[in-house]
Amino acid sequence: MQLTREKSSTSLSLRRDRWVWLHECTEIGRVKILIVGGGGREHALAWRLAHDTERHELLCAPGNAGTARCARNVAVSAEDIQALTRLAREEKPDLVVVGPEAPLCAGLADALRPHGIRVFGPTREGARLEGSKAFCKELLEAAGVPTARAARFGEPAAARQWVRDHGVPVVVKADGLAAGKGVTVCTTLEQAEQAIDDALVRRVFGPAGDTILLEEFLEGEEASVLALLDGERWALLPSAQDHKRVFDGDQGPNTGGMGAYSPAPVVTEEVRERVAREVFAPLVKELQRRGIEYRGVLYAGLMITADGPKVLEFNCRFGDPETQAILPRWQGPFAERLLECAEGRLRPEQLAWRPDACVCVVIAAGGYPGPYAKGSVIHGLDEAEKLDRVVVFHAGTALRDGQVVTAGGRVLGVTALGGDIPEAIRRAYEAVGKISFEGMHYRRDIGARALQRGRTL
Ligand code: AMP
Ligand code: GLY
Repeated sequence: MQLTREKSSTSLSLRRDRWVWLHECTEIGRVKILIVGGGGREHALAWRLAHDTERHELLCAPGNAGTARCARNVAVSAEDIQALTRLAREEKPDLVVVGPEAPLCAGLADALRPHGIRVFGPTREGARLEGSKAFCKELLEAAGVPTARAARFGEPAAARQWVRDHGVPVVVKADGLAAGKGVTVCTTLEQAEQAIDDALVRRVFGPAGDTILLEEFLEGEEASVLALLDGERWALLPSAQDHKRVFDGDQGPNTGGMGAYSPAPVVTEEVRERVAREVFAPLVKELQRRGIEYRGVLYAGLMITADGPKVLEFNCRFGDPETQAILPRWQGPFAERLLECAEGRLRPEQLAWRPDACVCVVIAAGGYPGPYAKGSVIHGLDEAEKLDRVVVFHAGTALRDGQVVTAGGRVLGVTALGGDIPEAIRRAYEAVGKISFEGMHYRRDIGARALQRGRTL
């Protein structure tokens, strides 16, 4: 590619967000990057790209009030493949980085690549790892990757019979994308029959529930390990753990994620090596064997069981809010690595990480994950970000008359680095304390599981 090389430099610049010690370094000079999406993950991506060098030209479609600070927001929906393709053809970015799964599963990468546009994100076929749990399970089994045993059904009577034969606990999973609601962990036969009927008879997930998986219940602690892939080579990112339930102590309904921390102490060096050897190595080989060129990030949701790590699910994208807890730990240029993935020339040995721990506390709108109000003015953002090594990632925010207002369920991801997890937790909650808006709520125990382990890094 025709990009000028320049020497890496490190500067301690006093920026608006006072993230004073991150490297400003790039080997490739200025690039133009279009980020697709408008949540906390996309703000974290834009923010980290902006820290490579101020000269990158960043666009975000559609973005939020946070991305507006470091990128040019473009009012194009992240789900409108045609409009995104038009935008990319007009703007001619050097790279398109796709945040959410929906456009990947709908074939955004397939639509852009024929126009010579580099994409960080898999094609539709690769995105099926997230888009179809049945496909994912079949691939895992073919690759010999440890995962829960499962059977697939399209007929309710056969599914009910299977549960009666095999007993509970059992996990019922809708095959397709179901906005995080397609998985039910069932401890009674009645619950299992209800979940089967919801999908196959009442069709509450529509076509996404035409096929279901009945899966063995796994015991252990969950963690996420993500990897960058270029179609052939791959490199693990640091581990992370999110908090899916809305209330403290993992109570209440599931959400998109109420907070995250990195690293996850349950992923010891030994577990990490097993994840590399037993999950990513055989999986990447199987993708290649099938001719699926996967260029992007692959997110493994794992249960760390007494027998070792087992895959619960794959996502074909960065996690949200795991990304907010991982990227502040990234060291060195970010855009280069994403470009390398998109071009099939990743240099895994170039990845480097700060030894610090990072914690992200999500602040949600009143009522979330149920119905919630929008349009409340958010106070205290500047005060929060004046704190050392704190950054507030915006998720559901918008600008109205020069003020930042709420515009979604998950509103902010208040993120802090610390020497260890307890310190990062303290800093993050100190920053949370500066922020207020009507009805806001957040969990007060983000990172608690890491503390319980009695190990901090
Ligand atoms: P998934 O979308 O497949 O990750 O499932 C959502 C959540 O359901 C996971 O984060 C786990 O908490 C739980 N879950 C999924 N599959 C299993 C399983 N086989 N055993 C135990 N819990 C599971
Ligand atoms: N935090 C879970 C996800 O991104 O799917």
